[in-house]
Amino acid sequence: MSKIIKSVLFISALIILIAVIISLQILKSERKIILFVTGDTEGYLIPCGCRTSPSGGLSRRVTLMEKISLENKGAKIYPVEIPDVFTDRNPSKDLINRTMGDFFERMNYIVGIGERDLSLKEKLKEYYKGDYYLALNKDFKDEFVFEMGGGLSFTKKGRLHLLFLCETEDFSSSLEEYYKKKVAENKNDAFVILGKVSPKLVEKLVSEKGNLLAVIATWEQTTTSLPQKAMGSWAVFLGDKGRKYATLEVSYYGGKWEAWPETAYIDRDIAPNEEEEGKITKVLDEVEKKNREIIEKMKVENSQQTLYSGSSSCKDCHKGPYEIWQNSNHFSATKVLEIDHQKNNPECLICHSTGFGSGGYPNDKIDLNGIGCESCHGSGKNHPPQKMKIEKGTKPCLQCHTKRDSPFFNDGFLLLIDHTSRKKNKNIGVIVGVQN
Ligand code: HEC
Ligand code: HEC
Ligand code: HEC
Ligand code: HEC
Repeated sequence: MSKIIKSVLFISALIILIAVIISLQILKSERKIILFVTGDTEGYLIPCGCRTSPSGGLSRRVTLMEKISLENKGAKIYPVEIPDVFTDRNPSKDLINRTMGDFFERMNYIVGIGERDLSLKEKLKEYYKGDYYLALNKDFKDEFVFEMGGGLSFTKKGRLHLLFLCETEDFSSSLEEYYKKKVAENKNDAFVILGKVSPKLVEKLVSEKGNLLAVIATWEQTTTSLPQKAMGSWAVFLGDKGRKYATLEVSYYGGKWEAWPETAYIDRDIAPNEEEEGKITKVLDEVEKKNREIIEKMKVENSQQTLYSGSSSCKDCHKGPYEIWQNSNHFSATKVLEIDHQKNNPECLICHSTGFGSGGYPNDKIDLNGIGCESCHGSGKNHPPQKMKIEKGTKPCLQCHTKRDSPFFNDGFLLLIDHTSRKKNKNIGVIVGVQN
């Protein structure tokens, strides 16, 4: 082979090598991150009980993150929590909230908080040692910034701001102003808004100027089954009780941003991570122990003096209504709590037993399990001859059948519990909706 051919071959090989190195660099400069967002968890370590096939809980998040990470080799996953984060109701709230905080620390969460969390005041620092994020509150950071791109010196770098908002009643206009200011200060950057934000405010935010890639929010029961695109920005609502998660894949390449959201329920079908589940079960056992002590004490107090006489005392004179009631879900409403380690949880018993909090359940002498007759008709101590209460309509039901815990409640439910002597429509089969 002549010298010339040899050097031509050598130079071509060199050129190919350089081209490969450059393209590898360019590929490397494309940075992809994935936000894994959950919200409105309110201390629910395990899937919340109310509603058919409830979803949520912490241990399944680990399984999900592992799966997402396998499917997206090379992309870094950032778990993010949005308001409301902690419980302020449970008698063991410190233990529950510390368990949440410990989980966030181990999983490297970015934690945004909301107004309800703020009521926990200096306890917040005890629950979670990392930074909390919240806009317009000087005690917390307001944004988390990612630098992306820039593998070779000639490729531009880009900055992505995660902004953490929590809307309160008179607060939405200042949040809009806050976002406008951020955009004005960072003209070439991209934004993702996270937090507790109403659909109304989302509408305003997406119509502002600025490169808003997505809004991922909680707002009561508002959920989006599929991410929606509004004015060029994605909008996702997660609903309540930490039941749903969203992922947002963000990539930056050659000065251009791409964002792709997905959302789904954290179903019970997803296998929980065993190690986390073990930790949580231990905590719940401890919580249950404390609850049991509270309930045992109440049992003795309530049996000394109570206004209630228990459903079985009505049985002899109201055989028909009693039998219908005995076959209803109201009869077993206390028992259903057992499946969730919540048998003695005051937070649940207020809606899952008779007269809880007003000297009724629990009682050593009379049985006030379930939603008994006196839940709806009032105390039966002096009846007869005193008349019992009969309220028409669904008003008395709504104290328990709240939007949050019974979202499909409607007038049809009255027919389902009908136990009057009037002729019943045997064909009533109102199907109670199933969320998922
Ligand atoms: C504000 C009242 C309220 C509170 C508080 C409440 N529940 Fe419920 N729960 C309900 C109502 C109402 C239903 C029936 C919902 C329906 O079918 O529409 C229900 C249903 C359930 C069911 C039955 C679901 C099914 O598919 O049969 C379980 C289990 C349950 N709740 C567990 C809990 C647990 C555990 C707690 C405490 C962490 C709790 N609930 C707190 C009102 C409440
Ligand atoms: C969830 C609420 C609820 C529970 C629990 C309940 N009731 Fe009622 N009850 C009602 C309502 C509402 C009416 C009125 C229905 C109507 O007039 O359409 C009613 C009506 C009645 C009446 C009047 C019947 C008639 O023929 O006019 C009797 C008697 C009665 N209930 C007894 C009982 C007894 C006994 C129990 C327990 C075994 C019980 N109820 C449990 C809500 C309840
Ligand atoms: C000793 C028998 C007896 C017992 C026990 C009894 N009831 Fe009654 N109840 C009656 C009679 C009698 C009436 C009146 C029927 C009528 O006027 O049509 C009545 C009427 C009612 C009514 C219709 C409204 C009213 O006051 O007229 C309700 C509701 C009711 N009872 C609920 C209960 C519940 C709940 C219990 C258990 C806590 C209970 N009753 C226990 C005998 C009894
Ligand atoms: C003290 C709280 C409370 C009150 C008051 C109450 N409920 Fe309920 N109700 C519950 C709970 C808790 C359940 C779930 C029980 C279960 O699944 O074990 C339930 C379940 C039901 C169900 C069965 C739904 C299902 O998923 O199978 C119907 C129907 C119903 N309630 C109707 C009513 C009506 C109508 C009223 C008012 C007249 C009423 N309830 C008042 C707590 C209450």
